[in-house]
Order: sequence, then C-alpha cells, then structure tokens
Amino acid sequence: MSTEIVNVDEYEALAQRRMPKMAFDFFSSGSEDQVTLRENRAAFTRIRLRPRILVDVSNIDVTTSVLGFKIAMPIMVAPTALHKMAHPDGELATVRAVSAANTIMILSASATCSMEEIAATGPGLRLFQLYVYKDRNITRTLVRRAEQAGFKAIVLTVDTPRLGRREADIKNRFKIPSHLSYKNMEGLMNVNKEIDKMNKTSGSEAAAWVDNHFDRSLNWKDVKWLQSITKLPVLVKGILTAEDAVLALQAGVAGIMVSNHGARQLDHVPATISVLEEIVKAVAGRVPVFLDGGVRRGTDVFKALALGASGVFIGRPIPYALSVDGEAGVTKVLQMLRDEFELTMALMGVCSVKEIRRQHVQTEQDSVK
Ligand code: FNR
Repeated sequence: MSTEIVNVDEYEALAQRRMPKMAFDFFSSGSEDQVTLRENRAAFTRIRLRPRILVDVSNIDVTTSVLGFKIAMPIMVAPTALHKMAHPDGELATVRAVSAANTIMILSASATCSMEEIAATGPGLRLFQLYVYKDRNITRTLVRRAEQAGFKAIVLTVDTPRLGRREADIKNRFKIPSHLSYKNMEGLMNVNKEIDKMNKTSGSEAAAWVDNHFDRSLNWKDVKWLQSITKLPVLVKGILTAEDAVLALQAGVAGIMVSNHGARQLDHVPATISVLEEIVKAVAGRVPVFLDGGVRRGTDVFKALALGASGVFIGRPIPYALSVDGEAGVTKVLQMLRDEFELTMALMGVCSVKEIRRQHVQTEQDSVK
C-alpha cells in the first residue's frame, strides 16, 4: 500500500505515532465528554450538497478577499498554541507555509515563537490572537507589538474566561516542555517562575496558567476599550448565538468568528456549522462572519460558504501535519484543502467563490420545513 497522504485527517493518526502522549492529547482533546468535539464533525456530514450540472467549469477561481486582502482561497489558519511542541521549527514553519500559500494565519497569543520572529520570516498576512490578561499593561504591550510587527488585525478570543475541562491534560499533568515557553510573554511576566509555582498545585499547567492570568471580568466594555487602544480592526472569536452577534455588532467589531474553540471550552455547545446561519442572518452582511471547528474537507469549506461564511479557519490539522513533516506538512494540508475545495466547486457547477449560494446546500432544518 502506498504511504502517500491523501487527506487532511490522515495526519492525525500519524501525529499520534510521532508525538509524546502528553503532546498529542493536548492537541487532540476536547473538553469533558467531548460531545461537541464529535458534533463539530458530525454536523458537517448531515448537510447535503445540491449540485448544478452542465455548467462550464473549465476555469475555477478559488481566490477571495478577507478584510480587504486578496487571498488564494477562503481557507485560513486558526490560532493554535505551542507549535514547537509539534515540531522544533514551530510557528516559523507554519507561517512560512501559510505565507507561501498566500493565505492568512492567526498567531496564537500562546505561541512558542514571538510575533517579531514571525514578522522576520518575511511578508505575509497575519492576525494576532489576543487574550486579555488581568494586568492590562500586558495586553496594551502585546497590541502595540502586533501593530509594530505588521499584523493586520487583532482577534480577541471571547470564550475563555476560564479554561474548559480537558481531562486528558488533567490526567497527564500537562506541562509545557521545559525548553519551550509562551514566547510573546517573555519580558512581560516571569513565565518560568510562574510555571514552577503552578506545577506544585495543579493538574494541567495550561488551566493553572489561565486561572492565574486571564481576566475573568472581560466583557463587552473591554471590546470597546480594546478598540480605543488600537487602530487595527478587532474581530471577536467564539460567538455561538445570534444574540451575541448583535452585541458584537453594537460593539463595533470588524468581524465575527463563529467558534467553539475546537470543542475545548464548554462541552454540549452546538457544532459551529449548525449555528452559522443564525449568526449570518443576524449580522446581515454588516461585517464578515468566519467559521472554525471540524473543517477537514473541501466540501466542509463549501458548506460553510454556502451558509454565509466569508471564509473558514482550520485548527488541529496544522499541528498534526507539522509534527509529521514540518513546513512541508502544513503546505500539504493547505494544498489538499485547496484542491478538494476547487474540485467541489467544479462538481457543484460553481466557478467562483462569490457564486456559492444558500441553495447549494440542504440542512436538516430545510428538510422539516
Ligand atoms: C486551540 N484554539 C485556540 N484558540 C485561541 O483563540 N487561542 C489559542 O491559543 C488556541 N489554542 C488552541 C490549541 C489547540 C491545540 C487547539 C486544538 C485549539 C482553538 C482554535 O483556534 C480553533 O478554534 C479550533 O482549533 C478549530 O477547530 P478544529 O479545526 O481544531 O476542529
């Protein structure tokens, strides 16, 4: 049998063989009973495609625009923490692959490379994912550094006042390998000393870190505050209801990411693809709506766009591919998704991204109407 990797999912099993158990469990886990983790994938499979035939599909254009930037495809890279735990080159390998693919990467606030190191790899479209820390000066400094390093937007993660219960990490007493650190925090807090202190008291170091540093009082006023300290567009990541989408609009955000944090926060929330449409309707075209969570196929990308997303982001496949093949692995993931998406468009009778319509999909709600 050929060992050629033919789809994105295959990287997961290979990554499991490659990585120490503690690292693989960290990347793969959801929270508690992982109901939402399974649902993020299952919900995509319940949506049917409605292809149109006998359309000339000899030229397919998968390019699109996001936040005013033309990119090669509506497939982008979500912020995932600690890439050096997957591969020694870490986020540097990821960003090189993403920039070469001419798409967007969101750098995690909990990255193992700093934003300045990312910027030094050369030009590219990068957004910075932000958590708000109890010490607001840290947040201010991070935002200023993101501006200086040429990041194009701030993506505020709004679903993590506390860390979800990831039981594998608790069992494993998850700990960042001692040669790695949250690089963006260096100089802002004494990371190693903090971590030494935490290890004495806690199951998962990541949970203890969040408990110690994240501002649980974060609320809509802070979204305004964040906008007041930067000229960069501010997007919110972690919206799951129409109600919150309306509040986000009122707060003046530049974009909404429908996300359940890869099912790592509150278990039993719906799959993101199941709530996308209600949010798109509430937003009514005023700002772009993006989606992440369980996107593994070109058909998933197509379904999300048909339900109104301006683009999708992928999480876990990136660290998995990184662990197997470094930069080349990330390149391959992006290429496979792009190729599958292009093929889906051709078989759906669609030649450009803007032609993708609601009528191209049938959801369970449609069938009961
Ligand atoms: C994440 N995610 C995440 N989100 C965020 O805002 N900041 C972060 O630092 C991280 N870190 C992180 C680590 C790991 C290992 C995972 C799996 C996820 C959530 C991430 O941005 C995204 O929402 C999900 O990963 C998307 O779901 P899929 O593609 O992994 O199913």
